[in-house]
Amino acid sequence: LIKSLYRETKDFLDKEIVVAGWVRTIRDSKTFGFIEINDGSFFKNLQIVFEEQNISNFKEIAKLSVGSAIIVHGNLVETPNAKQPFEMKATKIEIEGASNSEYPLQKKRHSFEYLRTIAHLRPRTNTFSAVFRIRSLAAFAIHKFFQERGFVYVHTPIITGSDAEGAGQMFRVTTLDMNNPPRNEDGKVDFTKDFFDRETNLTVSGQLEGETYSMAFRNIYTFGPTFRAENSNTARHAAEFWMVEPEIAFADLRDDMELAEDMLKYIINYCLENAPEEMEFFNNFVDNTVFERLNNIVNSEFAHVTYTEAVDILVKANDKFEYPVKWGNDLQTEHERYLTEQIFKKPVFVTDYPKDIKAFYMRMNDDNKTVAAMDLLVPGVGEIIGGSQREERLDLLEKRMKEMGLNMEDYWWYMDLRKYGSTRHAGFGLGFERAIMYITGMTNIRDVISFPRTVHTAEF
Ligand code: 4AD
Ligand code: MG
Repeated sequence: LIKSLYRETKDFLDKEIVVAGWVRTIRDSKTFGFIEINDGSFFKNLQIVFEEQNISNFKEIAKLSVGSAIIVHGNLVETPNAKQPFEMKATKIEIEGASNSEYPLQKKRHSFEYLRTIAHLRPRTNTFSAVFRIRSLAAFAIHKFFQERGFVYVHTPIITGSDAEGAGQMFRVTTLDMNNPPRNEDGKVDFTKDFFDRETNLTVSGQLEGETYSMAFRNIYTFGPTFRAENSNTARHAAEFWMVEPEIAFADLRDDMELAEDMLKYIINYCLENAPEEMEFFNNFVDNTVFERLNNIVNSEFAHVTYTEAVDILVKANDKFEYPVKWGNDLQTEHERYLTEQIFKKPVFVTDYPKDIKAFYMRMNDDNKTVAAMDLLVPGVGEIIGGSQREERLDLLEKRMKEMGLNMEDYWWYMDLRKYGSTRHAGFGLGFERAIMYITGMTNIRDVISFPRTVHTAEF
């Protein structure tokens, strides 16, 4: 209801209303008091005035703690000279569930670190209320963007037998008793005795399965949880995170980058238009460059640079880096941020990486040294998107898989796509949490995912 009160105030003025919600602040003097209530419908609170002469249980209400669940009956009245445009005069307040005085979210500001230890309560704070509403809106915007363009939403499996990135960062899924597992003659664990008669893992990416659907529907996207047992204890890595992965057929790397740029701008515009209060809060209290940054991105074209050009730029600044840059090595976060924050000062696509630092499925370039890959780097976060044009030529794909020592039998169905009507195709993965960090200015991935799972921590 509170959102409607703010958006369509006139319809409610001087009318009887009922608000059910939680007490955010409460103060009282002898004969009257104020409650700020939040009903979950909106970022802002509603101020309630309660007076001894109108409220039968005045003493009980005045004693309530922050966090209590109450139902308030009363009238909405204008308050032209006050901070807030209106307030509610209570005629009756029912206590649904009182909160006890040990409630940890008292009025003082708490650090994000502390709030992570009470992840079950933190959505009741302003910051996390704003973060998780933006997360919800951004997810909706992603569906809206792709559906408006005729993309088919594909649900790819969570339990899988193939390593989509070939990087060996998978969580094993098994029903075997690993203290006493069945073994082959050579002593290795015999996973054929497991539930699925084979070794299975949690997916690191829905891409490979997404490609199969792209060869039927042309344009598809996945959007779901992915899992990586990456031993990276950083502010940008989680073991469980959400990824958006479109795949487009009859398309190359250029088309892929165009799609990525359009999508990101669309999501940002959607949040700016549909959550102005939350966005203003981020700009005022979390990161005062949010508006500048986001307006800059929606109104400008992203930059493009090849990996080789980027390395030429970066080696000149090698004295600034912990890890010096060298052609052939992967770019570290410090290099990515230098490129996008110091050199281009906007989002930049880095393309055509050396084949040896990228996944097996990326399309070989004519130079035989680089692949048709692209990473999108953004100021403040670094890599937010990773994508590529896929190798559609069976012979080259097989050659690459052999070189990289992949077990070809696991990928027979993936190779089939190259036999039965293979076409140019491309796609990318957007790290959804990183996108939320970018939009909100939040600097730790643990603060944009409801119950974070990161190295050494999954408290809930
Ligand atoms: O660059 P990545 O590994 O690419 C893929 O998985 C491809 N299969 C995508 C595709 O082409 N369909 O991951 C894509 C994005 C990264 O750019 C990053 O934003 C995010 O996923 N990401 C993570 N986010 C949080 N925690 C982690 N551990 C992440 N690993 C990747
Ligand atoms: Mg990547």
